[in-house]
Amino acid sequence: MKNIIEAMQWRYATNKFEVSKKLSDEQLESLLEATILAPSSYGLQPWKMIVVTNPEIRTKLQEAGYGQPKISEASHLVVFAVEKHIDDALVDAFIKSVSDVRGIPLENLAGYAGMIKGAIAPKSEEERKDWATKQAYLALGVLITAGAIEGIDVAAMEGFDPKKFDEILGLEEQGLETKVIAAAGFRASDDPTAQYKKVRYPKEHMVIEVK
Ligand SMILES: Cc1cc2nc3c(=O)[nH]c(=O)nc-3n(C[C@H](O)[C@H](O)[C@H](O)COP(=O)(O)O)c2cc1C
Repeated sequence: MKNIIEAMQWRYATNKFEVSKKLSDEQLESLLEATILAPSSYGLQPWKMIVVTNPEIRTKLQEAGYGQPKISEASHLVVFAVEKHIDDALVDAFIKSVSDVRGIPLENLAGYAGMIKGAIAPKSEEERKDWATKQAYLALGVLITAGAIEGIDVAAMEGFDPKKFDEILGLEEQGLETKVIAAAGFRASDDPTAQYKKVRYPKEHMVIEVK
C-alpha cells in the first residue's frame, strides 16, 4: 500500500496503455464504488458513469475523441455524463432515497427538499448543467485518486466531441450529456510519458495562508 503522496507521484496522465492488461472485476468494482462515494452538492449526485468495454463502440468513440488511442486501448473507458434535467423530480427522487436509507418519514424531509428546490429554481438550464458538471469533475478526481492508490492508471480526457459521444452512446434518450471521460487500465512498459518529470508549482505558489 502506497501512501497518498507516493500514489499521486506514481500516477501520471498515461498516454499508452497495455492493451492486453485488463482490470479485474474486483478492481473495477473498487474504483466505481470509491467514485460513487464522492461527495456532491446537497448529495444530489447529478451525474452517471457509463463504463464502456464494447470494442466496436470504443473504436467509434476513439474517432470522436480526436483519435486518442487510449480511448480504445485502455482496459475500460469511463464516460462521465450529467443529468440534462435538474428539476424538482430529481430532488424528489433523492429525498426519497434519503428517507429510505435513513428511515426518516418523507414529511420530515420536506424542509430540506424545499431548500434544494429553492437553490435550483433561479438557475438557468445551462447553470444547472454547469453545476452538475462540477460535481462530475469532483467524482473524476476521486476516480483518479482511487486509481493511484490501487496502482491502476486513470487518464482524464477532455479532448473529444461530447455531442458525438452522446450520439454513439444514446445518451440523449437517457436524459444525459457527456462532460468528461477517463481511460482506466495499466500503463504500457514503453510509454515514454511515464519518464516525464512531474511539473507542479511549489507550495508557495499554490497555497495562500491566512493565519
Ligand atoms: C480534466 C482533464 C482533461 C484532460 N484531457 C486530456 C486529454 O484529452 N488528452 C490527454 O492526453 N491528456 C489530458 N489530460 C492530462 C493532463 O494534460 C495532465 O493531467 C497534466 O498535464 C498533468 O500531468 P500529469 O497528470 O501527468 O501529472 C487531462 C487532464 C485533466 C485533469
